[in-house]
Amino acid sequence: MREIDISSLVRENVKRMKPYSSARDDFKGTASIFLDANENPFPMEYNRYPDPHQKQLKKVISDLKGVKTEQIFLGNGSDEAIDLLFRVFCEPGRDSIVAPQPTYGMYTVSANVNDIEVIPASLTPSFDLDGAAVLSVIKSNTKIIFLCSPNNPSGNLISVGEIEFVLEKFQGIVVIDEAYIDFTESVSWTSRINEFKNLVVLQTLSKAWGLAGLRLGICFAQEEIITLINKIKPPYNINAFTQSQAVKSITSGRIEKERMVAEIKAERENLKIGLGKLNCVKKIFPSDANFLLVEVTEAKKIYNKLINKGIVVRDRSNVILCENCLRITVGTKEENNQLIQAISLL
Ligand SMILES: Cc1ncc(COP(=O)(O)O)c(C=O)c1O
Repeated sequence: MREIDISSLVRENVKRMKPYSSARDDFKGTASIFLDANENPFPMEYNRYPDPHQKQLKKVISDLKGVKTEQIFLGNGSDEAIDLLFRVFCEPGRDSIVAPQPTYGMYTVSANVNDIEVIPASLTPSFDLDGAAVLSVIKSNTKIIFLCSPNNPSGNLISVGEIEFVLEKFQGIVVIDEAYIDFTESVSWTSRINEFKNLVVLQTLSKAWGLAGLRLGICFAQEEIITLINKIKPPYNINAFTQSQAVKSITSGRIEKERMVAEIKAERENLKIGLGKLNCVKKIFPSDANFLLVEVTEAKKIYNKLINKGIVVRDRSNVILCENCLRITVGTKEENNQLIQAISLL
């Protein structure tokens, strides 16, 4: 494994600070009377604070993913993990990140919130990564490179070789956001966590698992990085309902999840065929996700006309490399048919 000094990347205040110690952190052992956390003693369903370490949920995720519990951080959505990565590694007003465009917007939003420079870089015209090009723009204060595979909004997987190149050469953190990994046939980068000290993999229950409303994002990395994120996280960032529902879904909903994913993948093909027959559709980009990036004749006009018919898609036409493109989420068979019919009547 390549030696890389993770601690040298960490913000000074994070190195210095003491984490918040919750009532349940201070106490170890068994007890029957809890008068330590200023909770309401009456037996409401949610009168107690949730487990700040999400032990049971992490065990279930560890078994599911084959990653040790110490290599897992859970966030209030992946968006929380993204923000916390900034707050661990990036010094406001000084450091920078790279997130080759077009990609998921939250990397840049989180950078802006944290006053971190986003160095301009783009993917290739086929939305792949040019690792050498990205490394040629980084600066000495570049702390994180964000990669999204399958990429949002283009839908394609990023080449393994290019990612390996960046992981091996970059002296900072490489985040691979795998929000859409369950819709691909590809192996997750979680299988390579132990090979790279600087690798962080993000996944979420918001897509394939159908649990966007629960807000559960999963961050995998070697223990050193996970310990740092845990040090600064809000103590009770995953609420009790989310923890119990996620445990339930993962332990007893796997077959249903596989069924939904299979149907979404089949519908993705049907949608591709249906859209491909329409005159206004110029190109449909290959997708390994639950959406299609579609180049049309006049994106804004089609977007607005669909809105008038009560159908909302995502207009990506102002995004680099996505001129006249709409991003269309794969819906149910009926929804997809209605969409195709609505466009054909425009
Ligand atoms: C690439 C990518 N990462 C993360 C997210 C958000 O995930 P979460 O719902 O876990 O915050 C999205 C949502 O669209 C996404 O496209």
